[in-house]
Amino acid sequence: MARNKAVIVGGLGVIGRNLLQHLVGLGDWDVVALSRRAPDFDSEAEFIQVDLLDRVDAEAKLGGITDATHIFYCAFQARPTWAEHNAPNLAMLVNAVEPIEAASPGLRHVHLVEGNKIYGSHLGPFKTPAKEDDPPHMLPNFYYDQEMWLRRHQEGKAWAWSALRPHTVCGFAVGNPMNITTVIGVYAAISKELGLPLRFPGTPGAYNAVYQVTDADLLAKAMTWCGVTPAAANQVYNITNTDFFRWCNLWPKFAEAFGMEYAGIQTINLTEFMADKGPLWDSMVQKHGLRPYKYADMAAWPFGDYVFKTDWDVMTDTLKIRRHGFHDCVDSEEMFLRMFRQFRDMKVIP
Ligand SMILES: NC(=O)c1ccc[n+]([C@@H]2O[C@H](COP(=O)([O-])OP(=O)(O)OC[C@H]3O[C@@H](n4cnc5c(N)ncnc54)[C@H](OP(=O)(O)O)[C@@H]3O)[C@@H](O)[C@H]2O)c1
Repeated sequence: MARNKAVIVGGLGVIGRNLLQHLVGLGDWDVVALSRRAPDFDSEAEFIQVDLLDRVDAEAKLGGITDATHIFYCAFQARPTWAEHNAPNLAMLVNAVEPIEAASPGLRHVHLVEGNKIYGSHLGPFKTPAKEDDPPHMLPNFYYDQEMWLRRHQEGKAWAWSALRPHTVCGFAVGNPMNITTVIGVYAAISKELGLPLRFPGTPGAYNAVYQVTDADLLAKAMTWCGVTPAAANQVYNITNTDFFRWCNLWPKFAEAFGMEYAGIQTINLTEFMADKGPLWDSMVQKHGLRPYKYADMAAWPFGDYVFKTDWDVMTDTLKIRRHGFHDCVDSEEMFLRMFRQFRDMKVIP
């Protein structure tokens, strides 16, 4: 049987990098990863450095991919306001899909990663659990624009599309704006280095609210499943670990895992209070023999402030993907503790 060839658009992000490792590990996929940066790790995948905001660059670099069977779109451009996200994020999707589609007549599937923010999970209380056919929040929302473009663009084509809506994706990546596991790991390591107990830095409301996350490995499996499963053609699914939790029950376990005292809540603005810790982190890299990543690339503090100030329940319904045949699930508490061990083993945190 012919091998599949996946083009991972945004192959260095927390979602793309973990998908890349998953597909390479399966052994029957050829993988091409796109990003502006070069990778800082070894991989069997081919990397193409391209600026997807530049149509000319995209056509020049992607026109040579003539045998793609799958496109997995997980690129992202952060912008200061929600409205400003739309133009660049739609342009990158169009500038990736159209040149690859034109050059690869054997294209079978285009997968788009969206997120629970389409339901307004970032704005304030919303209908829980959110279902796939719930209407989006008051637009603009770039996931909505991307999905509408993909739906229309696919009409009459031989290939199918699908989309997944994860929430707070957990995994390893460097230099990305949304990664809660590295935020917790670096915040805990710095607290410990300063001789402080571990404290939840968010609000009392967020401490006690119901929350959910998506393991990047689970997401990679679900994306792959979408790409090869007939039932997933032209479908959109919520995808989370499938369990729910409250931070008040997890943070004491995190303290135990880091060998720290636990001291409950102290609400701080991480973006402000962690801003001056770069020199301390550099000294910790030396002292503990850590990988020499830049402090600025290690933890996205504004994302930590957003997650730990979510004072409302965040729950999405994952029945649809299970009914269609994807049954994997993850225990979120076990996932966090496993990832913290991995980050230590990788010498990312002490
Ligand atoms: N992370 C989460 O918790 C989460 C949760 C739910 C949904 N999502 C959604 O999932 C999608 C992917 O998110 P993510 O967190 O994996 O993003 P990410 O970590 O920021 O990764 C983005 C990827 O896009 C690439 N990229 C950015 N601009 C580019 C450009 N102009 N040309 C080429 N490549 C470019 C980046 O590489 P370079 O910088 O090297 O170009 C990187 O590989 C987004 O739509 C996001 O909203 C994320």
